[in-house]
Amino acid sequence: MNDKKVKVGLMGLGTVGTGVIRLVEGHRDDLTQQTGLQIEIAKVLVQNPGKERSISVQSDLMTTDPYNLLHDPEIDVIVEVMGGIDNTLEYILEALNQGKHVVTANKDLMAIHGSTILKKAAEKNCDVFYEASVAGGIPILRALVEGFSSDRITKMMGIVNGTTNYILTKMSQEGASYEDVLKEAQALGYAEADPTSDVGGLDAARKMSILSTLGFRAGVNLEDVSCKGITGVTSEDIDYGKKLGYVMKLIGIAQQNDELIDVSVEPTLVKQSHPLASVNGVFNEVYVYGEAVGETMFYGPGAGELPTATAVVSDLVTVVKNIKLGVNGRGMVAPYKVKKLKTDEEILGKYFIRLIVDDKSGVLSQVTKTLADHDVSLEQVMQQPYNNGSKAELIMVTHTSSKKSILSILKQLEESDYVNEVKSFYRVEGGE
Ligand code: NAP
Ligand code: HSE
Repeated sequence: MNDKKVKVGLMGLGTVGTGVIRLVEGHRDDLTQQTGLQIEIAKVLVQNPGKERSISVQSDLMTTDPYNLLHDPEIDVIVEVMGGIDNTLEYILEALNQGKHVVTANKDLMAIHGSTILKKAAEKNCDVFYEASVAGGIPILRALVEGFSSDRITKMMGIVNGTTNYILTKMSQEGASYEDVLKEAQALGYAEADPTSDVGGLDAARKMSILSTLGFRAGVNLEDVSCKGITGVTSEDIDYGKKLGYVMKLIGIAQQNDELIDVSVEPTLVKQSHPLASVNGVFNEVYVYGEAVGETMFYGPGAGELPTATAVVSDLVTVVKNIKLGVNGRGMVAPYKVKKLKTDEEILGKYFIRLIVDDKSGVLSQVTKTLADHDVSLEQVMQQPYNNGSKAELIMVTHTSSKKSILSILKQLEESDYVNEVKSFYRVEGGE
């Protein structure tokens, strides 16, 4: 066994950083056997060294100055698990300038500045790995880059945010309040430092842009992802969905047909019989459809200390193996396809629409005529009394139609005198 140590500068000792230290220490022998080298956490960057922590770290390893890690010539690898964008970009670029390899869990950064970071890494013959940035403990990025390298991926669909899945599961199964469950998810370490990026869909959108860039081998930016979060989802929507046989989930979909791409994140009513409907709590699941392989499914914990740390430390193991073999910086393939996005007319789907209408004759036929004028037909319809029976709620699920038609129908219904209010609308997945 080689006595050489690979020294790691760990930036961040929160939920994920703590898990990284636990795994590096707890699995030390296995890691050394696999890599042939010993891994040593040489310095740890934190904001507040006096903070009470669930693990003990020698106080002389802790620093609040990032340059104590970045400019330490003995440090070979920077593991960035502190989060943030602008300063963190500066630190990672400086790490690469100094010839250090980088492992990060930071999807915020990789979704926005991934191409700059990867370009710099290629220039410097350094590794940059970011498996933990998407779907926590599920090794989905490695699967896309290596496992499916021989195939052409046509669709990726799934639940890629643990916090919102935890919230929707508890709201749906226990009738819990949105605010209470969000606090629980924060206490469990699932949510981002600013949880509005979880509940607003941005965290999932960042992950979908990373998945689509790797899966479709085309540079799909965050602005290319249409994004809607769960803040507007009500318990009534969840209950009406249930009555019609659906479960509410925040679903990311990336599709590529005839070289045209569409990527979106939105609350979606998933047919109860679809496997995604039974992915509960903090779990994530990603379906990958390949032209040759057909349908594959990846399931596992999407957030949390040890699941996320497994992805980070596995990346670290790859870096260390590459150091041993002297092949760092050789494994990257930059996106090489031209990205062409679909128009709303080319995006197809089924939709749930919930309306408040006057409870009088002729209203239902006016509503269905508006749909028919756009060539959209209905798969399911339900009517419920509303406001003590003076009005009615109309809940409908359409057959497949274009997003353009649905948006135009919604506008027309909102402006009409036979609909009082368009309460909600959601994409529908699964079923025939
Ligand atoms: P966290 O619990 O908030 O921990 C952040 C750590 O970074 C803390 O130790 C903090 O120091 C340190 N830190 C933050 N800003 C700093 C600064 N400017 N200078 C020095 N130290 C700083 O965060 P986390 O949940 O572990 O997440 C870390 C990263 O992993 C994020 O990019 C997140 O998106 C990603 N991620 C998280 C999960 C998850 O389940 N939590 C899953 C996948 C990916 P103090 O301890 O002194 O405050
Ligand atoms: N906040 C993220 C989530 C962490 O809930 O999925 C994992 O990326």
